[in-house]
Amino acid sequence: MGSRTTVAIDPAGTDIHGEAERIRALGPVSEIELPGGVRAWSVTGYEAARRVLADPRFSKDPRKHWTAFAEGTLDPDFPLIGWALMENLTTTHGEDHARLRRLVTGSFTARRITSLRPRIAEVTARLLDGLEATGKNGPVDLRAGFAEPLPLHVICELLGVPERMRTDLFRGGEANVDTTNTSYETVTSMERVHEIAGDLIAAKREDPEDDLVSALIRARDEDGSRLSGTELMGTVLLLVSTGTEPVKNLLTNATAELLTHAEHRAAVMEGRLTWESVIEETLRVQAPVAHLPFRFAVEDVEVAGVTVPRGEPVLVHYAAVGRDPSVHGQSADVFDPGRADKRHLSFGHGVYRCVGMPLARLEAEIALTMLFQRFPEMRLAVPPADLKRQSTFIMNGLAALPIRTR
Ligand code: HEM
Repeated sequence: MGSRTTVAIDPAGTDIHGEAERIRALGPVSEIELPGGVRAWSVTGYEAARRVLADPRFSKDPRKHWTAFAEGTLDPDFPLIGWALMENLTTTHGEDHARLRRLVTGSFTARRITSLRPRIAEVTARLLDGLEATGKNGPVDLRAGFAEPLPLHVICELLGVPERMRTDLFRGGEANVDTTNTSYETVTSMERVHEIAGDLIAAKREDPEDDLVSALIRARDEDGSRLSGTELMGTVLLLVSTGTEPVKNLLTNATAELLTHAEHRAAVMEGRLTWESVIEETLRVQAPVAHLPFRFAVEDVEVAGVTVPRGEPVLVHYAAVGRDPSVHGQSADVFDPGRADKRHLSFGHGVYRCVGMPLARLEAEIALTMLFQRFPEMRLAVPPADLKRQSTFIMNGLAALPIRTR
């Protein structure tokens, strides 16, 4: 194994798409080296990813199916240890996963999501008022002032998280996503957010309200089982971070694309292109979740002519999958909302596909429509080459999006 060609993953995520192309050049399923020297497999091909995501021989449970983790040979200083230690539906497999997922989706109903439309518009309008006021004095950061607080408030209102806890809970998830953090920093931050989530759950048990945390506490599966304390805590933390982090990236990435493609911006503003096409093309060409840990082969599995050995970790490279030239041709990496085929797997596929997909699409449609209507003169405040990336290879986002509103 040691002599094979691999790509060593840059923990700072400096050039996610360039790195993806280097991995793709080794094949649709190929070996990579994760920070900390851990060997893993990366899936960059669209068809290979669909197969992996739909194949029950790939598990997400490190406790049962990651040989190094289960046998205790994994270095405790492995920087991505947080992704193996967390306990929620994304680290379970088979019937365990199905049970947890039913308990969550049962509370996350379409009716509950659709009913959020007016509230999302209200939160959006309030944040735009803030941007308009500060934008009078010069550049503003669209990430900090809009793209991050919008989904954070929406998911926290849905869950019933009081304002004072929101930022701290979100920062905890963000620490796990920052792949330049040490294992110590990640674990310390996890302990802190567990404390906050524990307080929240205790308060909701005492005094239930009409919100998702109270619904999750009440939720009962067909067999009568409920979420255990650890599962409940893990689920609440998962929903805060998955409800915020990728939506924030979708909003900043779509805005940055439109601010650097005047022709597509004009087309969408004049109604020649739909917002839906802008959102889907952004999801394809700038997948908000880039390179996601972890899956594990339950047995030796052959995919695209490569055998992934039992017990080894696999990451699906969603950012590469959306740009697969065998699906989208030579212009695969070009942002073109007018293209007919915008196929992507950016919300996942199979039994672990995204629970929040309808909510994310609804938020993006409301937020982008209102943002571009409010600031028709909006432009980047720095040259595109100066936009700094978020320090992570797992997510595909910007550290800041400085804009001028007028
Ligand atoms: C643009 C926004 C979003 C993107 C791109 C996105 C992407 C994804 C992806 C790729 C997965 C599958 C992970 C895998 O490969 O196993 C996933 C799972 C998940 N997402 Fe999202 N997501 C978004 C928004 C949301 C929102 C708003 C929520 C709501 C709370 C959410 C909740 C979840 C949950 C709970 C899972 C785990 C499902 C499971 O393991 O069964 N996501 N998401």
